[in-house]
Amino acid sequence: MSDWKFVKDRSATQGAVWRSADGLLYKRTGDKDLQAETEFQQLAAGLGYPVPEIVDSGSEDGSYFVVERAIGDTSLHEEALAGARRDGQVSDRVISAAGAVSSKLLQAQARHPLPATPWFGKAAFAAEVFEENPDFDNPRIHAAVKRALDRLAQLPIVHGHLDYGLPNVLSVGVIDWQHHGPVPLGYDVYPALDIVAFKGGGKGYTITPEQRAAYTAALDETTASLIGRRVSERLGDFLLVKCFFFLALMRPTDPARHDKHIKWQYRRALFTMGLDQYESSNTIDTGAFPTLERFAAEHR
Ligand SMILES: Nc1ncnc2c1ncn2[C@@H]1O[C@H](COP(=O)(O)OP(=O)(O)O)[C@@H](O)[C@H]1O
Ligand SMILES: [Mg+2]
Repeated sequence: MSDWKFVKDRSATQGAVWRSADGLLYKRTGDKDLQAETEFQQLAAGLGYPVPEIVDSGSEDGSYFVVERAIGDTSLHEEALAGARRDGQVSDRVISAAGAVSSKLLQAQARHPLPATPWFGKAAFAAEVFEENPDFDNPRIHAAVKRALDRLAQLPIVHGHLDYGLPNVLSVGVIDWQHHGPVPLGYDVYPALDIVAFKGGGKGYTITPEQRAAYTAALDETTASLIGRRVSERLGDFLLVKCFFFLALMRPTDPARHDKHIKWQYRRALFTMGLDQYESSNTIDTGAFPTLERFAAEHR
């Protein structure tokens, strides 16, 4: 149990991920945040969420650690990338695997609704976005947010992942629950393929409109049977929240980092494009987003 190979530093929190020599276990190290993540993951496992089983946790050398079972060798992000390299497009198998895990998550979420509670601030990182982009803290944007929250008010509130996407999905479950918080049913899973567009095209693959439609149709079958509604009618509202999420923590502190400055400006531009579309149609077409490369070329 002591032979751990370093995998990577955690991306949005302190600590690191390690894999056991036989590949059957993963270990995360961290601080209080990891402890809260672990407690949540245990709760989610008890509610039937598709999450890895935790086999050990505790403190060692003043930091916290948790060990869980491996639920596969490759994330759907890695499989999407491999398909794109091999045949020039993401394989439909990745799309159907995402649909299957998403449906499992929806079922577990719908079975355990929470009392109504504010959810937008945490899911959107709204305080961080307004702090870093004070010009967006204006009546027009607050009105759009109010519209989205009103339109989402009919959906049950459930325990959410908040950072659900192909890198955190494997074919049998969902890893990396560091953000977790309350969300309307569907918020995690419906935008999962659209959010690839926020990465700017530099991740090595794109999802076709047909693949997004097939994924959405699979989820709608699940939500129609769970709550009697095709929750895809709220995808635009979810994506407005994602415009916030992907703008959070982007403003560089070092003015000399031109690369980071461009990425921040890119996410600000996507936010504004998303807002314009949302205001006119209640939807956001991520297929219309420019790539980061094109944006950077136009803003040199
Ligand atoms: N239980 C698990 N089963 C399989 N792979 C895992 C597991 N936990 C972590 N991994 C692998 O480790 C990588 C990093 O873990 P993750 O918790 O997502 O870190 P980060 O917070 O940096 O995104 C994942 O992309 C995945 O490849
Ligand atoms: Mg992750």
